[in-house]
Amino acid sequence: MNILITGGAGFIGSALTPALRIAGPTVTTLDNLSVDSRRPRPADLLVRDVRELTARDLDGIDTVVHLAALKSVPASFEVGNFEHNTAVDRHMIDTFVRSTAGRLLMASSCEVYGEQTGPLAESAPYAPRSPYAAGKVATEQLVGVYRSLVEDGRQLGVVRFFNTFGPEEDPDAVVPAFLDAAAEGRPLTVDGDGRQARDLTYIDDAITMLTRILGAPALLPVVNCGSGTAVSVLDLAHAVLRAAGRGTITHAPARMNEISSFTADQSLFTRTYGHVDRMPLDKALAVSFQTRARSLTAAGLSR
Ligand SMILES: NC(=O)c1ccc[n+]([C@@H]2O[C@H](COP(=O)([O-])OP(=O)(O)OC[C@H]3O[C@@H](n4cnc5c(N)ncnc54)[C@H](O)[C@@H]3O)[C@@H](O)[C@H]2O)c1
Repeated sequence: MNILITGGAGFIGSALTPALRIAGPTVTTLDNLSVDSRRPRPADLLVRDVRELTARDLDGIDTVVHLAALKSVPASFEVGNFEHNTAVDRHMIDTFVRSTAGRLLMASSCEVYGEQTGPLAESAPYAPRSPYAAGKVATEQLVGVYRSLVEDGRQLGVVRFFNTFGPEEDPDAVVPAFLDAAAEGRPLTVDGDGRQARDLTYIDDAITMLTRILGAPALLPVVNCGSGTAVSVLDLAHAVLRAAGRGTITHAPARMNEISSFTADQSLFTRTYGHVDRMPLDKALAVSFQTRARSLTAAGLSR
């Protein structure tokens, strides 16, 4: 099998690329490196923008996993971010449709559910509360439009990631921000009262889930990729302090339109692809903390 991953230098793409290569498929991975990261890049990364891809570039590709995006929810309130993501997704879908590739798996987000009571099943209505989420809704709807237009046997699917975390995540997300603060001896900054709850999946478990999705004969139209349990941001901060063995917590004003709770309903995934053993949160945070603290020490930033 030949797979193309876009956003291959990103947090999820840089973990998925080697995992798939070990499992057997030939993987081409590309990224325009617009997101600055200290993460190691996958071997043989093609430095290209998705918007430059043509249908001919997909000759011989069986499956495209489209992860490239600007993923910051707060930054999406600035002009340009929504436009970028929807243009990139539109181009990817259009290029796939004109190509001979067999399957396109598009990355979406739990943000499409917005503010509603969980657990959140794939059938729940859309309720986006940020330009980022609205962009993902537009992409999912475009996928639906083209799914009915491509010939039999060609597949378009969507995977909705909930919060995925791990040692290599960029520090603008909540878990790495807490881990780095603890390692650097700074207080952990909790937005608002910290009662907002997040469904957290360790990166290794997310990669297991993605390899199950890609290993199945047919893509589901939409499937959640979460854990099925939620933890409050305040409890998460305390768990990071336990993992670090030190630190304090401070509070900042609540974020604009921040969603109060995300919990994935994972029953469709489990019914279709089977049970996934998950790393317990405390263990995943301990592993992530040790790895980040080591790299901060190497960079002279740890205290
Ligand atoms: N990580 C999560 O918790 C999470 C949660 C929900 C949804 N998602 C979605 O999953 C996908 C992957 O997330 P991630 O955490 O790996 O993000 P990331 O920011 O770590 O990686 C995205 C990568 O895409 C690249 N990119 C952006 N625009 C590009 C373009 N025009 N052409 C080529 N490359 C481009 C960036 O340089 C970056 O390396 C994204 O679509 C994101 O919206 C992630």
